[in-house]
Amino acid sequence: MQNRAEDLIKRAAIDSVDSKYAIALTGAGISTESGIPDFRGPDGIWTRHPEAEREAYEHYGELLRDPEAHWEKILEPDSIFSEFDKFGEYAPNPGHYALARLEKLGILKSTITQNADGLHQKAGSRNVIEYHGSMAKLRCMSCGSRFDRKAFDLEELKGEGQLPPRCEKCNGVLKYDGVYFREPIPSDVAHLSLEEAWKCDLMLICGTSAVVYPFASLPRTARQRRIEKERQTETGLYAVEDIQAVTIIEANADLTPLTYEKISGYLIQGRTGNVLPHIVEEVERIMVR
Ligand code: APR
Ligand code: ZN
Repeated sequence: MQNRAEDLIKRAAIDSVDSKYAIALTGAGISTESGIPDFRGPDGIWTRHPEAEREAYEHYGELLRDPEAHWEKILEPDSIFSEFDKFGEYAPNPGHYALARLEKLGILKSTITQNADGLHQKAGSRNVIEYHGSMAKLRCMSCGSRFDRKAFDLEELKGEGQLPPRCEKCNGVLKYDGVYFREPIPSDVAHLSLEEAWKCDLMLICGTSAVVYPFASLPRTARQRRIEKERQTETGLYAVEDIQAVTIIEANADLTPLTYEKISGYLIQGRTGNVLPHIVEEVERIMVR
């Protein structure tokens, strides 16, 4: 690994060990090494199928207008939702395990992910906030209750003309818990994530193009936070300095708007499955000293 990346990895390890409340933000890029394509990378789903992206923007409106027709459509064998149903077959990669290890070491307090694939939890991460929901769950559009997707035989419901699936608590319409384009982020995860962005002093952003909002506003919220820090001047007197409260680090294959706009302090350019385990190695080297 070239020197620059090595230097930045050492820096990220030191920053992580020095942090009091570090969190991770992740996107589809962390799961590509598990075999799940991302969306906007060179081999991304939307990059390869722009029409599918256009269609995805219509899903929420269709669901609101006619839930039965929407469910009929997404249960079609060639629907993109059949891809999401296969998420359970994928395994975490070293990038996921590295974040789970940082949590176990007490450094990472939470992982806020845009991924609906459940791979962080499979790797052992405990405090995971699924900002864009989970494709392994259904959610009630009325009371917000979530249910295991496996508890529903959707094909049978379709066969019996019983779509859309209904909430056993309030009889509301159920949808996939995965958040659709144009759908508001469920308030519970939105509040939790904002609290974490306000609490953290280090944000490690992994495998996201950082172009989808409101998730992409979390680093910007953190970036605005300032704290006063005392430092001793040459004269020996103490001066109070107004400094940035949060160290923001990107680990990503490409530069993002966070890099260009200097929202992040530095970018470690590379594959998360390579960069993150190296950070863990360095962290463990520092911690045993
Ligand atoms: N390591 C590091 N970075 C990677 C890797 C990898 N192994 N593989 C891909 N990347 C980078 C890509 O270069 C790209 O910059 O990860 C980024 C993935 O960006 P997107 O595909 O836009 O995914 P994401 O940011 O998670 O998308 C946000 O958009 O389509 C919606 O709901 C969907 O949650 C998703 C949201
Ligand atoms: Zn309900």
